[in-house]
Amino acid sequence: MNVLGIESSCDETAAAVVREDGVVLSDVVASQFAVHAPFGGVVPELASRAHLTNVVPVIEQAVAALPGGFADVDAVAVTHGPGLVGALLVGVQAAKAIAWSRGLPLVGVNHLVGHLLAVYLRRSPEQPPVALAFPYVALLASGGHTALYRVDSSDDIEQLGETRDDAAGEAYDKVGKLLGLGYPGGPLVDRLAALGDPKSVPLPLPMRNKHGLEFSFSGLKTAVAQRVAKHGIPQGEREQADLCASFQHAVVTSLVSKSIAACQREGVARLVLGGGVAANRGLRELASQRCKEHGIELFVPPLASCTDNAAMIAYAGAQRLLRGERDGLELSVFSTSPKLVSSLHRA
Ligand code: KG4
Ligand code: ZN
Repeated sequence: MNVLGIESSCDETAAAVVREDGVVLSDVVASQFAVHAPFGGVVPELASRAHLTNVVPVIEQAVAALPGGFADVDAVAVTHGPGLVGALLVGVQAAKAIAWSRGLPLVGVNHLVGHLLAVYLRRSPEQPPVALAFPYVALLASGGHTALYRVDSSDDIEQLGETRDDAAGEAYDKVGKLLGLGYPGGPLVDRLAALGDPKSVPLPLPMRNKHGLEFSFSGLKTAVAQRVAKHGIPQGEREQADLCASFQHAVVTSLVSKSIAACQREGVARLVLGGGVAANRGLRELASQRCKEHGIELFVPPLASCTDNAAMIAYAGAQRLLRGERDGLELSVFSTSPKLVSSLHRA
């Protein structure tokens, strides 16, 4: 079964074709980076308009990679939430039009479920199936979400804890903006952090030993803002690097300690990282070190599977289809997600 996936929940217009066993046949992502960069963040109306421009070419490109084109597509899966409503509507309308005109089954996919199953994507037919058994604990850290989940199956996913305020990626982007580094700040702060001393600037370690498996990053972001207000933007590269390294140390320490605590609490020795922040070098290094110490097996998917993409949506959709689930053309969009992610699929 070849599933065409469509993703338009935020600032990437994406389409991909994936087999139900996770083999990715095509994967196209049109980034809106240049549209939003001048504003230092995603502007919802501009995102919707860019999706409208990009959605058909992106789908055409993804399908053109199949020998038989559309004749080789067996079903359509689309992100229907959570996300920006105007942005989601563009992908959902395109998916409905394709499903209706070609008589194909249609399934809606929760974007978060897509991220949580992305670890199973196989980027080439030669790559063996990913040897990851259920259950596993997953840390999803992106620009819009930061939460821990227990994944018992593609249909049984429980949220263990989430951020009380900012997402980790959002905090990175705001710090990048405060330091005048550009947008999105995450990769830029990460790059500078590698050159600095993580112990040089005293910053609060968020939610240390507190509040179970919840995160909080707004206090840390405010601490950086107050420092910049008091001392000005650090001018030399060394000073910038020290502040970035100290900020990064606080964020990744919090992400990794809570992830390990979640594995211990759940009695699960498998941890998966996902979301754009999983690209972070500091996070990968600390997670790998701490997992080794605690006998936890760590799975970090390749970057293309961590950031927003439609391959993960196609794969998650394929799992719904394999369970015999279908959505009709009345499929609607939603902006926020309940605690039990999979309950959406059962409703
Ligand atoms: O998952 P994603 O592509 O989109 C969603 O937000 O759903 O994640 C994007 C986020 C941005 O906030 C970006 O700054 C952050 O991931 N990010 C990083 C790194 N690469 C991307 N944050 C820290 N370090 C990185 N290397
Ligand atoms: Zn995402």
